[in-house]
Amino acid sequence: RFEQSLRPQFLSQYIGQHKVKHNLEIFIEAAKMREESLDHVLLYGPPGLGKTTLAAVIANEMGVNVKMTSGPAIERPGDLAAIVSSLEPGDVLFIDEIHRLNRSIEEVLYPAMEDFSLDIVVGKGPTARSVRLDLPPFTLIGATTRAGALSAPLRDRFGVHSRLDYYDTEALTEIVVRSSKLFEADIDPNAAVEIARRSRGTPRIANRLLKRVRDYAQVRGTGSITMDMASQALEMLQVDPLGLDHIDHKLLTGMIQRFRGGPVGLDTIAASIGEESTTIEDVYEPYLLQIGFIQRTPRGRVVTASAYEHFGMEIPE
Ligand code: ADE
Repeated sequence: RFEQSLRPQFLSQYIGQHKVKHNLEIFIEAAKMREESLDHVLLYGPPGLGKTTLAAVIANEMGVNVKMTSGPAIERPGDLAAIVSSLEPGDVLFIDEIHRLNRSIEEVLYPAMEDFSLDIVVGKGPTARSVRLDLPPFTLIGATTRAGALSAPLRDRFGVHSRLDYYDTEALTEIVVRSSKLFEADIDPNAAVEIARRSRGTPRIANRLLKRVRDYAQVRGTGSITMDMASQALEMLQVDPLGLDHIDHKLLTGMIQRFRGGPVGLDTIAASIGEESTTIEDVYEPYLLQIGFIQRTPRGRVVTASAYEHFGMEIPE
């Protein structure tokens, strides 16, 4: 994919997440010095922060292949067996959304992670028997938006736990400038900062906004991404100065207008705006919590005074 070309190939090109990056540098170097496979790595944090990118970078730094799959894609133990038995020594197996892995698959995964062996049942009824497959040593990289949703035994089998955090404006600006260079697009540094500010701490959003601003500048301007072009394009995209989009607005104004700012339960909010509860919880809510626009209480979600102020709405008594 074209998008692939925006992704960094090496840790030295990976912007932000300094703590995670520096820890991984050490673990990767140690594994290479010992000529061992890297210990299993769990990457967790909100969507769009570069978990898949980081998995590809780790494999690249280790000089191995990476096989990518996801929790929901592995339906039966045989699916997992097919993937792991095709690995070469030291390869990385990346499982995205690993919290959505079936419990029956998890049990097959434990010995695979611990002893590099796979016990699978073949056949049915009286002729069913268990066969043991020896696997090459490999590195499992699991990614999840919520580490808490993982079963404790699975979580404990990862030797490295890395939490990715929202990026600050400086790091996002650096990513926008880097991506512009790869696009061979000319960008005003202030326009890069503006796109970064409105990207909700998320590189995936920054790169998406950059592409749309670039389209706008090409059609409405000279192709050069000026501050003016960026402001107009971002307004057209309905991305507000804090990066909140149409759905964030619907969520917050819905809570204010229909539920007097809460407390209101997640499922009630979800039903009232026609979104999935899990989408709200995993995608929208984390950033709104981070900027202090909503709070979680035992009785449900509450809109804070800062959110009322942002929308220029009167705070109820
Ligand atoms: N593109 C997306 N995420 C990135 C990151 N963290 N560093 C560099 N380029 C990126």
